[in-house]
Amino acid sequence: MRILILTHSFNSLTQRLYAELAADGHTLSVEFDIADSVTEEAVALFAPDLVLAPFLKRAVPESVWRRVPTLIVHPGIVGDRGPSALDHAIQHGYTDWGVTVLQAEAEMDAGPVWAHATFAMRADATKASIYRNEVTRAALAAVRQALAHYPDWRAGRWRPRLQDYADPAVRGRPHAPMTQADRALDWAAMSTRDILARVRAADGFPGVLDTLFGQPCRLFDAHPGPRLDGATPGTVIGRQHDALLLATRDASVWIGHVRRADSDHPFKLPAALAFAKEAADLAQRADLQPAYPDITYRESADGRVGFLAFAFYNGAMGTPECERLTAAVHAARQRPTKILVLTGGHDFWSNGIHLGRIEAAASPADESWRNIQAMDDLCLALLEATDRLTVAALQGNAGAGGCFLALACDEVWARDGVVLNPHYKNMGNLFGSEYWTYLLPRRVGEEAAVRIMRERLPLTAAQAAARGLIDRVFGDTVKDFADELAVRAAELADDDIDRRIADKAARRAADEAAKPLATYRAEELQQMWRNFYGFDPSYHVARYHFVMKTPHAWTPRHLARHREPGWHTAAGGAGA
Ligand code: COA
Repeated sequence: MRILILTHSFNSLTQRLYAELAADGHTLSVEFDIADSVTEEAVALFAPDLVLAPFLKRAVPESVWRRVPTLIVHPGIVGDRGPSALDHAIQHGYTDWGVTVLQAEAEMDAGPVWAHATFAMRADATKASIYRNEVTRAALAAVRQALAHYPDWRAGRWRPRLQDYADPAVRGRPHAPMTQADRALDWAAMSTRDILARVRAADGFPGVLDTLFGQPCRLFDAHPGPRLDGATPGTVIGRQHDALLLATRDASVWIGHVRRADSDHPFKLPAALAFAKEAADLAQRADLQPAYPDITYRESADGRVGFLAFAFYNGAMGTPECERLTAAVHAARQRPTKILVLTGGHDFWSNGIHLGRIEAAASPADESWRNIQAMDDLCLALLEATDRLTVAALQGNAGAGGCFLALACDEVWARDGVVLNPHYKNMGNLFGSEYWTYLLPRRVGEEAAVRIMRERLPLTAAQAAARGLIDRVFGDTVKDFADELAVRAAELADDDIDRRIADKAARRAADEAAKPLATYRAEELQQMWRNFYGFDPSYHVARYHFVMKTPHAWTPRHLARHREPGWHTAAGGAGA
């Protein structure tokens, strides 16, 4: 089918749908929801069989849905109507929820239902995490179901079901948008559990409006902290790295990230960085347990496999995160294991250098330079680990430099459903480093490397494996992936491991003799120097818009394929 994806932005759900539907053989093009006239133009140019809207913030124009069937992906069960659907479900503690694909009509979310799918709510997860995992998986299933109805719908043999509130099977109800008053924290009265639930229901957007050090800010990235007696609930009582510890009535919570509207940097930042002056005198409390979840290391029962996890918020890795992880890799190498598995975090493996920290720095160019050096040092620590095998185990998505960090490991395994964005150019034509000029062609060959970088498209784990970018894909959920990971790592340790380690060391030595890693790094960094300090400010402009979340003014050409001259004569169209 020819499908126009109409979306507010190319977010994780849209990327997954794009990549999976392209793999299903559909012909796809994307238009961002910028203005009704732009959408109308896209429909006229592409002449789609249907319009699919996975992520919209406003209604589809009548001139479009009257002309072409338009399917809206709503992150709620059948009957649920209105914004903040998932926020309500999490905050009210529903144990199951769903996704509905409905046809656009005059009233938002009120059209007939083409398909729906349900899922069990994961306890203690943030809204963003449920969206990236359960909602995305259910949305894909429901969209596929809906598309399967299309031929019958067209032939008049099938009709979508109206949302009938008299039907007991229709459990959802219309609701008002959730306000900050609904989300408000009462530190004196609420338990740690309630406070965590409220912050998680608003994470990653819009956060919970509160105050820290007497200043208004939005709270994100909340985790349980230790029981500490005597402090006034809601006050800051310590820090771990850049996370702040706030007393609660019955224990404490870590707040990892905040957004201050009143500052020069009105975007999400590590909490102690956003309140640098106020947090300067707080003692680092590495001893406090439960700690702020960050870098953790454990070993398999037989001691042959080490697992290094790094759950950096949003997968963003600033200079301090890279330095601490490099130190953790060196420490792990002191252990007598045969395999080191790097597991990243639940939702993200890594998204490369920390664009927020960079934007907030006194000199973003200098901080970009420091950050990329720290990232390269981390890659180098992995590349030089020739005394054991390394495995990148991607539970969550990876983008830009984060993808190439994974390729620095000997094996790359990913959860089925992970989306990879192995390219840099979307960030103001950034050249990229992380030894990608060595790592990418080594895996896929020169020609394919150029194509991947140029296409700038998301790849599902299965597509990445088919292209030789990664090695294995397994496990549908993070839990399935973790279970199978332990088994597969043990099998790898059994698989003639000493010979494999010796082969790896020999290959690294041969590669080093052919062209030293230092040369790859120097060549890449020469280009990056131009990105950071050169006359073309594209990277700085793109980074600013990325962290400020400036609404898009146009759809990038590589996505809006219908705007390419002669696109319809190209073999197979856009999705092929
Ligand atoms: N630095 C800081 N924050 C980052 C980040 C980075 N490198 N990458 C992602 N984020 C943040 C986003 O701002 C967003 O924040 P939010 O919680 O306030 O919404 C969150 O992580 C999720 O990112 P989002 O863009 O919504 O995720 P996605 O799954 O839709 O898209 C990417 C994934 C990787 C395509 C996209 O995040 C991206 O382009 N990131 C930048 C990658 C990059 O250029 N890194 C620098 C060069 S190495």
